[in-house]
Amino acid sequence: MMQHSSKIFSLLFFAIILSWGIPSRAQITIKIDTKNISLIFFAEQDGKLQQGYFGKKLSDRDVTNIRLTGYDAFPSFGTTYINEAALRVVHGDGNTSTELVYQEHHSDTLTDGTVQTEIRLKDMVYPFFISLFFKVYPEDDMLRQWTEISHSEKESVILYDYASSHLFFNESAYFLTQFYGSWGDEMNMTEVRLTRGQKVLDSKLGVRVNEHAHASFFLSLNHPAMETTGEVVGGTFAWPGNWKLLFDVDEKEHLHVITGINSYAGQLTLKKNSVITTPALLFTWSDQGTGQISRNFHRWARKYGIYRGDRDRYTLLNNWEATYFDFNQEILTGIIRDASEMGFELFLLDDGWFGDKYPRNSDNAGLGDWMVNPRKLPDGLGYLVREAEKNGIKFGIWLEPEMVNPESELYKKHPDWVIGQPNRPIHLKRNQLNLDLSNPKVQEHVFNVIDKTMSENPGIAYIKWDCNRFVTNGGSYYLKPEYQSHLWTEYVYGLYDVLEKVREKYPEVSMMVCSGGGGRIDYGTMPYFDEFWISDNTDALSRIFIQWGTTQFYPAMALASHVSVVPNHTTGRITPLKFRFDVAMSAKLGMDLQPADMTENEKAFSKNAIREYDKIRKIVQFGDLYRLLSPYTSERTSMMYVSEDRSEAVVFSYLLEKNIQGNTQSLVLNGLDPDAMYQLTEINKDPKTYSWFTPLEGKVFSGDFLMKYGLRFTMYNQFDSKIILLKAQ
Ligand code: DGJ
Repeated sequence: MMQHSSKIFSLLFFAIILSWGIPSRAQITIKIDTKNISLIFFAEQDGKLQQGYFGKKLSDRDVTNIRLTGYDAFPSFGTTYINEAALRVVHGDGNTSTELVYQEHHSDTLTDGTVQTEIRLKDMVYPFFISLFFKVYPEDDMLRQWTEISHSEKESVILYDYASSHLFFNESAYFLTQFYGSWGDEMNMTEVRLTRGQKVLDSKLGVRVNEHAHASFFLSLNHPAMETTGEVVGGTFAWPGNWKLLFDVDEKEHLHVITGINSYAGQLTLKKNSVITTPALLFTWSDQGTGQISRNFHRWARKYGIYRGDRDRYTLLNNWEATYFDFNQEILTGIIRDASEMGFELFLLDDGWFGDKYPRNSDNAGLGDWMVNPRKLPDGLGYLVREAEKNGIKFGIWLEPEMVNPESELYKKHPDWVIGQPNRPIHLKRNQLNLDLSNPKVQEHVFNVIDKTMSENPGIAYIKWDCNRFVTNGGSYYLKPEYQSHLWTEYVYGLYDVLEKVREKYPEVSMMVCSGGGGRIDYGTMPYFDEFWISDNTDALSRIFIQWGTTQFYPAMALASHVSVVPNHTTGRITPLKFRFDVAMSAKLGMDLQPADMTENEKAFSKNAIREYDKIRKIVQFGDLYRLLSPYTSERTSMMYVSEDRSEAVVFSYLLEKNIQGNTQSLVLNGLDPDAMYQLTEINKDPKTYSWFTPLEGKVFSGDFLMKYGLRFTMYNQFDSKIILLKAQ
């Protein structure tokens, strides 16, 4: 009996050890730190690499107290214990399993102050290697994780899954915020509690991959995400191709987060001695809610994530909603004059200026034929560039260089340059096809389109780079049959090569990335672009939601937001001009309408608004964002930007519903200097209506008071809006 119970005891003890994962003494500690975050790995004596910790910064002294989890830091298919592998490979000899062991690691401080750590792993037997890379931006609390895969096996290795990152969490509950939408309705947010099993967010669209979902997420630990409190991880995958974010809650309620290229139908053959570098997951952590996550991303993005994030952006007028395809030289010259007269800095000529044999008069012909349509623009683009110069503004041009209409000279000449499959009918979207950027000849052609347009028309200061369809029939006439599954990745590498060349030759040109709206917003693309077009829906009410979602990860300086006509072309909604301006001024202001159709009053109001924007654009574009009232939960929504030195701030407040009694919600400000005294001024007033802010006009309050008591003024009417400037005295 005695013997029996001691057996039970030792079995129990063993079980406890297994379930609690009490560590065997770790052999090597790898500690990756930012200002406020630690990510810690251990390589054990048996060579297994484990993630020991991720969260608020730990002191080096305490690291030895961490309990090991028993889970691989980068689980590979084969003997791995967990449900999903980050790496799944068939080796040259047909072995389908991989057993990774730690080899070495090193950290280097780079000249820009970032620190890069490489942890090198190898299969126990095969000459197959994977390096986990972590680059940290210490001051911004940002981490970038990716992998590098190589081998020197005799035969090629096939990669079926090749993730960029695997993160492990052991908390009581997990809440995931995802970002989704479709054309005209981008960047909606919703939160779900993760339950046992897998939740996958992904795109298989090949190109324009964010049309239905964005590769960004918040993961709130233990309770739903909050704006100013609580532990949250925010991540976004930096890649304009197929992507996948997988959240896997295992049988012990641990969470595994695997991110990477979506390898669906995209296995890669890796030849001996070649290397694949995956794109990166960018992520950060905060114990002050999602607001801090956004500010970390924005600050980082302005320094590293978007092209020339330290420079002011142009205010511009775009003719898309003004004319669509229906314009000529005279009409455009008039718009240029009006744009300049109103105070814009650039005129952007949109779709429809090109195509000779197949003129681009609608979306069904001409795409690919990048010569001026002489019937619309007899004096060429150069004439318009000069007209803009004469009027003291810059000129920008729309291009969609990755696409072609079958009704075009380009397609008739090179039908094999498109993405498609033999023995299948052509499958059109918006009457167009994708050019196959895996083909070097096509890459050269796309670069030449841009180069020719720019060099023949010196003075073009801005390019809007559009991309209006995703991939179906995903085959390449260029790639060999056994490499067809490489199309998805080769396309992106081809795109990057072209963008590199464009940036090398035209470093001063501003570029906007557009994809039928927000179909291509990611930090793989943004290092080449100054700004993005998030949605074709310019309705100010819709924009409040779309911009709310977008600015969770992307800074306002890159978010082009245009005032357009009413009824709005997408929603049919009628909103006041002031409301439309006040929404657009909370990001990068622009306009998308025919000025000739405006009344004199509207023109005067617009001219003044553009001047007023000058007073706040630096704060909006370079300041820290604090969200005060969410449009998802409140009829009154509000956010503010604070300059880095906290000497200035600007508060935006919008009323989304009529409130007969008056909405008196207090705007409890954030991010101010509590000791500073701020004077309040209303910006962009409507001279014709009484402002309920008037009693506060010119008043001075302490930052402390404004962050406790708040800013209190009543709002009554639907689409009432206010912009308040705060200046420290
Ligand atoms: C889609 C874009 O989102 C619009 O702004 C416009 O440029 C059209 N394409 C032009 O075809």
